[in-house]
Amino acid sequence: MTLPEEFLDRLKQSNDIVSAMGAYSQLKKAGRDFVCLCPFHSEKTPSCHIYTDSQSFYCFGCGSGGDIITFTRLTENLDYIGAVRLLADRSGLAMPDGGGNEELFKRSKILEMNREAARFFRDALLSENGRAGLEYLLNRGLTANTVRKYGLGYAANRWDSLKSHMNYKGYDDAGLVEASLLTQGQRGLYDKFRNRVMFPIIDRMGNVVGFSGRRLSEREEDGPKYLNSSETPVFRKRENLFSLNFAKNSKKSYMLLCEGNIDVITLNQAGFDNAVATLGTAVTPEQARLLRNYCGEVVLAYDSDAAGQKATVKAINLFGREGINARVLRMNGAKDPDDYVRRFGGASFAALAEESGSAIGFELDRLKKSAGADTPEGRADYLKKAVNLLAGVDNRLDRMVYISELARDCEVTSAGVEDAVERAVKSKNRAKRNEERRELLRPAVKRDTVNPDADKFPGEEKAERGIIAFLLHSPDKLPVILRNLTPEDFPTAFNRRLFETLILRLNKRRSADASSLGSEFSAEETGRIESIRVENSVLPFTDERLSDYIKVLTDFKRLKNKKSADEMSNEEALEYAEKLKREKFAGI
Ligand code: UTP
Ligand code: MN
Repeated sequence: MTLPEEFLDRLKQSNDIVSAMGAYSQLKKAGRDFVCLCPFHSEKTPSCHIYTDSQSFYCFGCGSGGDIITFTRLTENLDYIGAVRLLADRSGLAMPDGGGNEELFKRSKILEMNREAARFFRDALLSENGRAGLEYLLNRGLTANTVRKYGLGYAANRWDSLKSHMNYKGYDDAGLVEASLLTQGQRGLYDKFRNRVMFPIIDRMGNVVGFSGRRLSEREEDGPKYLNSSETPVFRKRENLFSLNFAKNSKKSYMLLCEGNIDVITLNQAGFDNAVATLGTAVTPEQARLLRNYCGEVVLAYDSDAAGQKATVKAINLFGREGINARVLRMNGAKDPDDYVRRFGGASFAALAEESGSAIGFELDRLKKSAGADTPEGRADYLKKAVNLLAGVDNRLDRMVYISELARDCEVTSAGVEDAVERAVKSKNRAKRNEERRELLRPAVKRDTVNPDADKFPGEEKAERGIIAFLLHSPDKLPVILRNLTPEDFPTAFNRRLFETLILRLNKRRSADASSLGSEFSAEETGRIESIRVENSVLPFTDERLSDYIKVLTDFKRLKNKKSADEMSNEEALEYAEKLKREKFAGI
C-alpha cells in the first residue's frame, strides 16, 4: 500500500526522531546533531548518530538506520504500515483510507482485553469472593494503598470466571487465547489464572502487557508459585521490567534490580520507587539497555541464596559487557529484599543500598571463598585470580584502591600486587591490540546480506553508491545522470533497485527523501540507504565527482559489451569500433 507523501510528511513532523530516540537512550549533543549508545546492539561508546536535519539515524557500529518509521519498526517489532499506524495513533493523526493493519489491530485488541481483565481481577479482589486474595496480600504486609497503586487483583478459583465476563463484554475465545488469558486444555477452554493474586505488568507507556499470578498457598500441588502470561504480540519478557512504569520517573540516581515482584512492591512501599524486577527470567541485554537509559547505575538486590548469587555473577558480567556500572547489595539474615524490609525495616535497607559495594568487591569475595584463603596455597591461588580480575578494571585509580585492599588482605606488599596487576594489564592490552590487528588483516569474510553482489563488483558498487548519494543530496543532477545511465548499468541488484526507485520518486515529485523509502525496503535495507546518505554527506557534490562515478559504470558497461564482441556480426563490430573511435576523439 502506498501512503500519500503529504500524510507521511505530517507524520514525521509530529513525531520528532530526536525525542523518540531520547526515550530509549541518553543523547549527547554533537553540533546540530546527537549521538547515543545504539539501542540495537551492545556497545560502550556511542556510535549511533541522530541527524536533526534529515530526521534520521544511523549506527556506525551495526549499520541500522532510517527514519522515525524504521526506528519504530525496530523498537516495536512492527512492519512498515504497523509502525506508521502506531505513530499516527500517537500523534492523533487519522490514517488515510485503506490504512488498516491487522497486526496493529490485533495488538491494540490484546491491550484492550488485558486492561479489561486487569479491571475484572481488581474488582474481584475487592469483592466478597476475593477475600482470600486480599487477605493474602494484607498478610504479606501490603497496604490497601499499595494494592491500589499496583492495580493488584484476584483470579477466582473457578474455570470460567474471566472467560464468561470477557465473553459477555464481547471478546471472543480465540482472542482471549491469543492474549494468554485462556488456556486450551483437553476438556476445552478455561481461565489460565485461577485462585491466584494477580500482578498486572505495565510497560512504560502505561499499557497492561501481561500478568503474573501468585498461588495463595505454599503447596506445590496448587501449581507453580508464579504463573506468568506467555509471550503474546504485546508481551515480550526479554524487553520489559516489572514496575518500570514507576521506576522510570524515580529521582534516585540508581535502579534496584530484584528477582521478584513482591520484592519490588515491598520496596516501593518502603519508599524505593526505583525498584524493578525481571519477569521470571535471567536479566537480558535488552533489559540492561532499558535500565541504562534511565539510570547511571544498577544496584543488584537478588536473593541471598546460592541461586541468587549465581544470578548476580551473571548479571555483573552482562552489565559489564553493556557498559553499565553495577553494585551488589548484600543482605544478611534475610532471603530476599521483601523478607529483609519486613524484618529490619526500610531505613536499614536504605543503609544497605548506600553501602553496597562494587561488583569487583563482590567478585573478589567470591574468588576468595572458592579458593579457600586460609591455607598458603589457597591464598596464592586467590591472589593470582584476583590480580587477573583487577587487570580488567579500566580506571587506574579504582584499580589502586582494590590493589591496596587485596595486598592487605593477603598480607603481601602493595607494590608487589601493583606490579603484578600492571603486568597483567599490559599483557591484556597487548592481546587486545594483536586481536585488533588480526581483525584488520582478516579478509572481509562477512557477507553483505543487503547487497550480496557487492563483493563481486567492489569498484562499481562504490560508484553506484556515489550516484545514489547524488540523487539523495542533490536531486537536480537527475537529468545528467539519466543522460548517461539506466538502471541496467548498475551491476549490483540492491543498488539497481534503489536507483530505479529513486528515479520513479524523483519523476513524481521534486525530492527523494531517503527516509520515505521505508515502504519499499526492509528495516535492514533502510539502514543501508541511510549509510549511503551519511557516508557521502561530507564529500562535496561537484560535477567532477559525479562524472567520475558515471565513468566507472560506463567503462564497466563497455567492458561487458566488449566481452560479447565475438558474437557480433561484422557490421555490428564495425559500428562498435566506429563508436569507440568517436568516444576517444571526444576525450572520454
Ligand atoms: P521467588 O521464588 O524468589 O519468589 O521468585 P519471591 O519473590 O520470593 O516470591 P514470594 O515472596 O515467595 O511470593 C522470584 C521471581 O521468579 C519468578 C517470578 O517472577 C518471581 O517474582 N517465578 C518464580 C516464576 O516465574 N515462577 C515461579 O514458579 C517462581
Ligand atoms: Mn520472597
